[in-house]
Amino acid sequence: MHIYKFLYLLFGTLLSFCYVEVSSSAERQPVVPPEYERDGGPYVPTPNIVVDRMLSLAQVRAGDHLIDLGSGDGVIVITAATKYELTAYGVDIDEELIRLSNLRAKNLGINQRVLFEVKDIFKTDLSKASVVTLYLLPEMMERLESKLYSELQPGTRIVSHDYFFPNWKHSAQVDFSIPEKEFISGVPHAYLYLWVVPAKVVGNWAVQFNSNNHNRLRLSQNFQNLSGDLLIDGQSHPLIYSQLMGNQIKFEVVVGADRLQFSGNVEGEKISGELLRGNLVLPWFAQRQ
Ligand SMILES: C[S@@+](CC[C@H](N)C(=O)[O-])C[C@H]1O[C@@H](n2cnc3c(N)ncnc32)[C@H](O)[C@@H]1O
Repeated sequence: MHIYKFLYLLFGTLLSFCYVEVSSSAERQPVVPPEYERDGGPYVPTPNIVVDRMLSLAQVRAGDHLIDLGSGDGVIVITAATKYELTAYGVDIDEELIRLSNLRAKNLGINQRVLFEVKDIFKTDLSKASVVTLYLLPEMMERLESKLYSELQPGTRIVSHDYFFPNWKHSAQVDFSIPEKEFISGVPHAYLYLWVVPAKVVGNWAVQFNSNNHNRLRLSQNFQNLSGDLLIDGQSHPLIYSQLMGNQIKFEVVVGADRLQFSGNVEGEKISGELLRGNLVLPWFAQRQ
């Protein structure tokens, strides 16, 4: 087994075991109604230093709406709403943690912008999120992958502490030493992963540039990774470079001696932007077929 995968699974196992230690040391009994299953893992709070690094990796800013799935004692939501003029929402199945989180938000005077609710992660409406934070076991990450990919708006930033999606490659990762975590996971280290939800661009597009309407862009998509070609007057030119970050798309093709560099903004069924050909900058436009 690959060492990285082994460590990943080991962290998951240790995180499951440490529940007993954390809850008994805090003399706090979990209050989980019987209809819920704690399938995302036990309550283990993210240390403050790690919360700060998560918010900075997600480039959290004023105006964001942050959702923490499995919010525990509310540390991520409350830190974000204290530092930034944003709205934030946390869900957890532990009634006592939710009660304490709402009380803390009230005491800090941020309860107009912050709400915690007893809710299962899978029943949570994610459509308004611009940032999602996670500290959940690998099995839950695997189950959540397609929900987050399909339900979140393009451009939404997802940051996860220690665990990653098995199929969706992250766009950034940081890791650093943090001695306080030794007693939580047995490893004095934190791993953070960032994903930016891509627009869904798979399919055929009619492309117009340089007063030529007879172009077709044919795109395949695997999360943010694109492949395909641009048909110009029936001739195929494979994409030699592509990038999809939220709604921002870039791709390049070679036509004769020229490199055509397209950049644009995806708005549902349309894309518009600029095409760089040598020193020439041209507008281009695409409509999904
Ligand atoms: C590791 S803690 C993370 C707490 C917090 N997000 C943080 O990083 O400090 C995971 C939390 O997820 C909650 N949880 C587990 N399964 C859940 C589910 N299906 N729906 C909602 N919350 C869940 C647990 O009760 C626990 O508080």
